[in-house]
Amino acid sequence: MQVVNLIEVLKSKKAIVVRTIDEAPGVKTFALKLSGEYDIKPGQFSMLYYWGIGEAPISLANLPLKTGSSTIIEHTVRSTGVVTNTIVENARIGSVLGVRGPYGKGWPLEKHENMNIVIVAGGIGLAPLRPVIKYIEKNREKYKDVYLLYGARTPADMLYKYEHESYSRMPGVKVLLSSDVRVEGWSHHVGFVTDLVKYVDVRTEETVAYVCGPEVMMRVAVKKLLDKGFRKDNIFLSLERRMRCGVGICGTCQFGHYFVCRDGPVFSYSEIEDYLWIEGV
Ligand SMILES: Cc1cc2nc3c(=O)[nH]c(=O)nc-3n(C[C@H](O)[C@H](O)[C@H](O)COP(=O)(O)OP(=O)(O)OC[C@H]3O[C@@H](n4cnc5c(N)ncnc54)[C@H](O)[C@@H]3O)c2cc1C
Ligand code: FES
Repeated sequence: MQVVNLIEVLKSKKAIVVRTIDEAPGVKTFALKLSGEYDIKPGQFSMLYYWGIGEAPISLANLPLKTGSSTIIEHTVRSTGVVTNTIVENARIGSVLGVRGPYGKGWPLEKHENMNIVIVAGGIGLAPLRPVIKYIEKNREKYKDVYLLYGARTPADMLYKYEHESYSRMPGVKVLLSSDVRVEGWSHHVGFVTDLVKYVDVRTEETVAYVCGPEVMMRVAVKKLLDKGFRKDNIFLSLERRMRCGVGICGTCQFGHYFVCRDGPVFSYSEIEDYLWIEGV
């Protein structure tokens, strides 16, 4: 029988905030320096700990950078409650946060080499997908056409605005943006991000879709992708559930017969189709 030392499993590493970026109202990106290796992949998450307050699961928001004996990772945090408000309001350069992980299964990018990739992101949902864009940029020859469909409530709520131009300059990458509401000076789509699926021009049998955003948006995205001819096992979604342990012990993140922390957060639609449409699962 395998004996697990829970104290070791749940122990955080110290991480120093080395940079902060204001992304949108109530949303900041933190670059964190950890000593040693931290081999986190696109789609995986860390449990971020603010000492004395608590922990929250937060996705990797950029490819990790190894510098000598340390690793720099980025996490984008939106204020929604006790832990995230405290991090966004109080963490600054030099602050120490706790990090444990990496956890979960990420986007299956290696499995999808030689395919087209359609990324559909809503609001803060771009955070777990940004490392996918960065990975494709680094390995451009391994993927065919790429679409990034990104929408937010208003243009001001969009993340990483300072890099959207650079995404669209990547060869074979089309970036389509949308704002839920009309704002003066906005020259892109007005409406929901899922409206943009109709502009995707690919052979669906050689295309995968990676989707992240509010659950209602992901459901609409799935419907539209299926209508377009996407196979169920070629649509991938990153799910959010309340978490405590992050490692498949406590059951807090139960979703049907899965634990999101251990079996996800990235699932293919074919794995979760029985549960996605049921409110409150
Ligand atoms: C795998 C994963 C990756 C995530 N990645 C990011 C990320 O990159 N950036 C980011 O800002 N947030 C991310 N989240 C969401 C983030 O973890 C929650 O917003 C956070 O845990 C809320 O904790 P809190 O103490 O700040 O809020 P609380 O005070 O605990 O709660 C505030 C409100 O948010 C609701 N809530 C709390 N946790 C969740 C949850 N997991 N899902 C839905 N609603 C919740 C509560 O019901 C309550 O209404 C992710 C969640 C998961 C599961
Ligand atoms: S958070 Fe404990 S089992 Fe997933």
